[in-house]
Amino acid sequence: MNDLKSPALLKSCSFINGQWQEALDKFDVYNPANNEVIAQISEVSAEQIDNAIEAASVAQKKWQQKTSFQRAEILQNWSALIDQHQDDLALIMTREQGKTLPDAKGEIIYGKGFIDWFAEEAKRIYSDTTSNHIEHKSVQTIKQPIGVVGAITPWNFPNAMITRKAAAALAAGCSFVVKPASETPLSALALAELARQAGIPDGVFNVIVGTNSQKIGEQLTTHKKINKFTFTGSTKVGKLLNKQCANSIKKVSLELGGNAPFIVFDDANIEHAVDALVAAKLRNCGQTCISPNRVYLQHNIASTFKTKLVAALKQIKQGNGECQDSQIACLIHKKAAEKVHQLAESAIKNGGKLIHGGLTKSPDSSFYPITVIDEVPHGIDITQCEIFGPLFTLITFNEEREVIDQANDTEFGLASYIFTENANRVYRVTTALEYGMIGVNDSAISHPIAPFGGIKHSGFGKEGSKYGLDDYLIIKAVTQKFYHQ
Ligand code: SIN
Repeated sequence: MNDLKSPALLKSCSFINGQWQEALDKFDVYNPANNEVIAQISEVSAEQIDNAIEAASVAQKKWQQKTSFQRAEILQNWSALIDQHQDDLALIMTREQGKTLPDAKGEIIYGKGFIDWFAEEAKRIYSDTTSNHIEHKSVQTIKQPIGVVGAITPWNFPNAMITRKAAAALAAGCSFVVKPASETPLSALALAELARQAGIPDGVFNVIVGTNSQKIGEQLTTHKKINKFTFTGSTKVGKLLNKQCANSIKKVSLELGGNAPFIVFDDANIEHAVDALVAAKLRNCGQTCISPNRVYLQHNIASTFKTKLVAALKQIKQGNGECQDSQIACLIHKKAAEKVHQLAESAIKNGGKLIHGGLTKSPDSSFYPITVIDEVPHGIDITQCEIFGPLFTLITFNEEREVIDQANDTEFGLASYIFTENANRVYRVTTALEYGMIGVNDSAISHPIAPFGGIKHSGFGKEGSKYGLDDYLIIKAVTQKFYHQ
């Protein structure tokens, strides 16, 4: 990668206590578009991880003593540097993750938005004093940073899933040790280099990179100096990590898998709903936890909707994420494309009808064509798991109650979408849907101002928004008695 404007952003080892820490063992990072090796990275050792946690523990004590305005200023420096280097950051991301350059740039801006947001929120950590509930007595609360935060972040958003957690943690006065996905370490390391340049003190922000996720996860979840653990990734892994945290009673937040229903009622604005579906489903080539997974169309509009959807999809150009005219690109690796392919095949075997795209995936590629399967029977595999690819599954329904029951019939509860012009229905359906986030005539639900997070097996804890700091704070109650002279 010798075409970056700032080659210093390209790093090849963990960032611990303000230092780049090489190691003898290396692992390769691939460009998913062509399977070429783009970097060799030092595999973090168990000892280095311990050093990172120790350093974070020491650094946190000083960091929390800075005023909220001082922490905000340093976070703003970080954000400004990210802004300044957005072209390089996007290129690095496209090369290691595969998404298109506009998608990558969008993510850099989105990720930086969390730093801007939490830099401001740092100044708004309010405590309470209650009115006297007993004579001569008051109760006050003190909010303080929880301490050292351990984090594991996914490959689908290699920048924003780090900043959404780290910005909140640092704003609250915590220090941070993150293990990014081994598929996408470069974006995380570039963020670390900019954190260093921004003046984030040594030990406050650490990035450990390695492929032994199980061992690293164990160390982060069991270390007694980690006070809070946060994870974005699959429900299966989240459950395991949550268990591992139990012994040391860590505060935990989990942003896990989704299975989003996208419901279009007869009275919806169809053009608008089609556009919203295409945008949300094809964002990051379908690899988002909030991607519409099951599209429910009410009987009267189903046929018109399908015609318009297929017409819109025929206009989309798929290609290498670095090509100017690519609107969607590839999946993270061949295995991911294979999984989507198997889901499509199984849906068709079970009665689904292929109405766009095809089952023509080449076995040696991470590209999967945009595909639409209609008349998918409720309850089969594809309606129960996360697809994570550009595969649309359409289901027709008749009644409101029926679709609510089907939409809720999943262990997941992250995002959901409804399209209707009926205000009464909006109230009924949003209160009945068992999801942490609901877009009404809207599929662009992610923003630093909106609380992001799920319920049920999609996890707990909210990221972003005014609630995003809560997970990184503890509340002490101080009761005080006043004596008369
Ligand atoms: C995710 O897929 O986990 C995050 C998506 C988002 O922040 O919009």
